[in-house]
Amino acid sequence: MENNILSKTTELAKAICEKYADKGKTAVDATCGNGHDTIWLAERFGRVYAFDIQESAAEATRHLAESSGFDNVTVINDGHQNMGNYVSEKVGLVMFNLGYLPGGDKNVVTETATTLEAIETALSLMEKDGLVCITMYPGHPQGAAEKKAVLEMAASLNKGKYHCVRTDMVNQPETAPEILFITLKVG
Ligand SMILES: C[S@@+](CC[C@H](N)C(=O)[O-])C[C@H]1O[C@@H](n2cnc3c(N)ncnc32)[C@H](O)[C@@H]1O
Repeated sequence: MENNILSKTTELAKAICEKYADKGKTAVDATCGNGHDTIWLAERFGRVYAFDIQESAAEATRHLAESSGFDNVTVINDGHQNMGNYVSEKVGLVMFNLGYLPGGDKNVVTETATTLEAIETALSLMEKDGLVCITMYPGHPQGAAEKKAVLEMAASLNKGKYHCVRTDMVNQPETAPEILFITLKVG
């Protein structure tokens, strides 16, 4: 068990995502960064598409997948808002890890408008009983506004079609990371 707040958040997100793992299905890593989440998905899904706008991140993920022996990963150096141009099949899980890459360029962060566009596309690609998992980091200025907009969008989703669940670390500051899970109830 992990005790650092970021590790704890990742651990909780993965514990839920694990329930949706299926070798017969496709998953999307919408923010692949160094590729750690991509590899986690590649171990559990039949096919994985991984997106990042940073060429260095896409290259690191490609290298990690190849050197780890995964041939089921397609890495795309493009914004996740363009996901629909590359993924034509239905997907079982889409994972977003918002914000900036730890140890990387903090000026390259996910942006509210493109994040919302990408989540809408992810929802349109989702299989019945599929999951979209979004980890949000309100501890930096854009992150707080992004979290607010993402939660507003989730609250407005059709209640007959989706279940939206979020974590809230009630004994931690408001800057603590939160996870939003969206599942599709009907096909
Ligand atoms: C928190 S990091 C992801 C960490 C990653 N999941 C890992 O396991 O290393 C967020 C990533 O999102 C990327 N990003 C920012 N805007 C993006 C966009 N529009 N489309 C795809 N990736 C984006 C950043 O370049 C950064 O690498």
